[in-house]
Amino acid sequence: MAGQMSILGSAVLALFLAGYLGQQYLPPPKPKVVGFDLGTTFCSVGVFHPGLGEVEVIGDEKGRKSIPSVVSFADSNIYVGYEGQKMADSFPQNTIYDAKRFIGKIFSAEELNREKRRYQFKVLYNNGTAEFSISTNRTFTVTPEYIGSRLLLKLKKMAEKSLGVPVTNAVISVPAEFDERQRNYTIKAANLAGMNILRLINEPTAAAMAYGLHKVDVMNVLVVDLGGGTLDVSLLNKQGGMFLTRAMAGNNKLGGQDFNQRLLQHVFESIQQQYGAFPLLKRDVYNLRQAVERTKLNLTFQHSSKISIPLTLKSEAKLNEPSEEDTIQSVLFEEEITRELFEKLNADLFQKILIPIERVLRDGLLDKSEVDEIVLVGGSTRIPRIRQIIAEYFGKQPNVSVDPDLAVVIGVAIQAGIMGGSWPLQVSAIEIPNRHLKKTNFN
Ligand SMILES: *[C@@H]1O[C@H](CO)[C@@H](O)[C@H](O)[C@H]1NC(C)=O
Ligand SMILES: *[C@@H]1O[C@H](CO)[C@@H](O)[C@H](O)[C@H]1NC(C)=O
Ligand SMILES: *[C@@H]1O[C@H](CO)[C@@H](O)[C@H](O)[C@H]1NC(C)=O
Ligand SMILES: *[C@@H]1O[C@H](CO)[C@@H](O)[C@H](O)[C@H]1NC(C)=O
Ligand SMILES: *[C@@H]1O[C@H](CO)[C@@H](O)[C@H](O)[C@H]1NC(C)=O
Repeated sequence: MAGQMSILGSAVLALFLAGYLGQQYLPPPKPKVVGFDLGTTFCSVGVFHPGLGEVEVIGDEKGRKSIPSVVSFADSNIYVGYEGQKMADSFPQNTIYDAKRFIGKIFSAEELNREKRRYQFKVLYNNGTAEFSISTNRTFTVTPEYIGSRLLLKLKKMAEKSLGVPVTNAVISVPAEFDERQRNYTIKAANLAGMNILRLINEPTAAAMAYGLHKVDVMNVLVVDLGGGTLDVSLLNKQGGMFLTRAMAGNNKLGGQDFNQRLLQHVFESIQQQYGAFPLLKRDVYNLRQAVERTKLNLTFQHSSKISIPLTLKSEAKLNEPSEEDTIQSVLFEEEITRELFEKLNADLFQKILIPIERVLRDGLLDKSEVDEIVLVGGSTRIPRIRQIIAEYFGKQPNVSVDPDLAVVIGVAIQAGIMGGSWPLQVSAIEIPNRHLKKTNFN
């Protein structure tokens, strides 16, 4: 009897040990929950790998870690991300971007009228909400959450392809200023893409988590998010492992596009001064815009960058001599742009960044010396002068070690890892919702 017991006992023990030892040689468990950053201009998906203890931001078929938030309709096909962006030139009326500015939002008719003028696609007013009218070889309307769902579906497929397993659970980030309805419609977009949302997380909180600020002893974190067209500043307060948004302010008409515009204006003036003429072809203007964007990016690393573009120019028609023939000339326009010039052209715009920063400190009843960490998010925070202005204002360096375009998705993926149970238990990072907070806008 005792012998039987011991045989049985050892068998159980052996099985137990085999299971235990086997576990160490098994492939690491797959992430169960993904993290989505559904941005206004770009979106991304990330996962936390429990085996490696690392976040991976998943690339598309070409390895690009963000895809443009663009959805284009042509024939009976839907083109998403880079493919959608490619269609923008040929089908501007059927190419929807910036859908996040409309999702779940209630507008007055006048408000929406003002908004829709900025776009080449058709925005319809439907009882307080926005819809987009699409005309391919039939005419139909789509909602902003439908556009969101097509983007999330693409991200879901990218994640499934990379992980080799179906994914249905996610955490998603939203702007801190989103109200309950905008949050609900973001969840609806995910549901339409076949995703179940376990938690919403505010974008600034996600960025703070990307820097590991949920694990260290900090009280007050200021998050500055400067993208292509908007500036968002949030003051976070950490209390016992929980983040609370204390104050928000921003400028929804300030960003990289404005800095480009200043440089483009300068280039046009240069052309006019040199040749007394202006570019004739749309194609040339497009090329100039591209060159200006590349120059801006170069000036982050270099002290000067040369623009060199062949142009077809048309001399200005003289008003008092209408009979004079226009002269057309082909030239190679060249100009060396220094970082100093770029900073001078944008000096007033760069300085405007401090306005919402001062406002959140005032609203949060905090002195700038009490800010423990400054987190920079968004591609435009790469501009050296902007970092310098912020560093000088606070008298300390901002935290910039994480790619500012990926900080939000990295933080969301960490939260997804926590939700998936693959994070050491002592690390919690919860947000306290602050429903009564309003964002102050400076335009
Ligand atoms: C609409 O587009 C689809 C896809 O290209 C095509 O198959 C169909 O024939 C078109 N219908 C009409 C009426 O042109
Ligand atoms: C318009 O919206 C209001 C409030 O959101 C709702 O009560 C009303 O039924 C809607 N009307 C129509 C025609 O959908
Ligand atoms: C958001 O969704 C929740 C849960 O479905 C619901 O209780 C709430 O009324 C919704 N709020 C708004 C403003 O749509
Ligand atoms: C920017 O830098 C790249 C690589 O250093 C260079 O090829 C390019 O000509 C530079 N300038 C512009 C305006 O693109
Ligand atoms: C960046 O954040 C980390 C916390 O993860 C902190 O230890 C570090 O000092 C910060 N660096 C700067 C330059 O602020």
